[in-house]
Amino acid sequence: MAEILVIAAHPTLEHSRVCRALLAALQPSAPSTADPRTEVRDLYALYPDYFIDIAAEQRALAAARLVVWLHPVHWYSMPPLLKLWLDEVLAFGWAYGPGGTALRGKDLWLVASTGGDEASYHPGGHNRHSFSAFLPPYEQTARLTGMRWLPPLVLHGAHRVSEAALDVHAQTFRQRLHDWPRWPGLAMVRADGRFDVPADARPAPD
Ligand SMILES: Cc1cc2nc3c(=O)[nH]c(=O)nc-3n(C[C@H](O)[C@H](O)[C@H](O)COP(=O)(O)O)c2cc1C
Repeated sequence: MAEILVIAAHPTLEHSRVCRALLAALQPSAPSTADPRTEVRDLYALYPDYFIDIAAEQRALAAARLVVWLHPVHWYSMPPLLKLWLDEVLAFGWAYGPGGTALRGKDLWLVASTGGDEASYHPGGHNRHSFSAFLPPYEQTARLTGMRWLPPLVLHGAHRVSEAALDVHAQTFRQRLHDWPRWPGLAMVRADGRFDVPADARPAPD
């Protein structure tokens, strides 16, 4: 059981550009260099029939301290098997509700990609809203289950970014996992999603 749990959800990983590059960046060059802190669970490979092993998923989640959701954005949201995973695994009395404290205190990190480029996620662009406007259901899921919502890592324009930019993105992903929880500023991100501004960041009152 690993303290970093990457839940990957791509319905056609063989055709993926981004998700595949990110997962490849986690592959060890040799078994001896495998990162024992990290477990990747590829939902579409594990459950091609959508029959999710809820107990196994809950065991992996319970052991984790950082949960990562890695997926392409499909219809402004997550692919369907990840949604089903939430419906079934984050159960009442386990993840929320009376006695539902299994996820409390963990970190949740969304790593996603969009076909739309950054400019399209703008009031004047064809997606009409900033990308963050599509995230409240994710953030509230984190909050309801007592997880701390970390700033997402998003790659826009997934089909148009250069190979070099994709490689930088994949290495950023790998490095962030390696560095977690020692991310700059992370200590200031509170469980309720607010940021504590350090007292010394303000001028002293006259
Ligand atoms: C069914 C489907 C729905 C999609 N919906 C969106 C969307 O709502 N917004 C968007 O920007 N891109 C959308 N896309 C594009 C994907 O986000 C994009 O292909 C993906 O992030 C690329 O990552 P990948 O190379 O790992 O597949 C959609 C793609 C598919 C297949």
